[in-house]
Amino acid sequence: MADTIFVLNGPNLNMLGTREPEIYGADTLDDIAGQLEDRARELGLAIEMRQSNHEGHLVDWMHEAQAQGAKAILLNAAAFTHTSAALYDTIKAIRTPVIEVHLSNPHAREQFRHASYVGRAARGTIAGFGALSYMLALEAAARI
Ligand code: DQA
Repeated sequence: MADTIFVLNGPNLNMLGTREPEIYGADTLDDIAGQLEDRARELGLAIEMRQSNHEGHLVDWMHEAQAQGAKAILLNAAAFTHTSAALYDTIKAIRTPVIEVHLSNPHAREQFRHASYVGRAARGTIAGFGALSYMLALEAAARI
């Protein structure tokens, strides 16, 4: 549906809250989903929140978002960001705008995180603000 925002999360993001909280913060993915849903309601939008540790699920869900006519996709592909030509191809293959999201700022971290296949194809990127990155990405999605 045109007012749905898919929020797709990659590997290890199911561990948020206990996973390296000094880098990723204390919020769980459910906490973030709740925050997004509250704001989306104010904006007249709906959130479809998903997480998988498997790359192909992210591909399938982006196809599904397009097939359903979703307004936008917020994609935190986690480590697949830095490795996945398949995600790059998928973002190029669909017309649904994709916003790349990261809790941390990958450019301020290890060298291998500086390259982003997702960022090369995405409409834009928001990174480095913890859970707020998702909220800022939602604000962007609502306006494009
Ligand atoms: C991340 C950054 C990635 O480099 C890392 O592999 C993640 C999380 C983030 O949200 O900061 O798993 O996408």
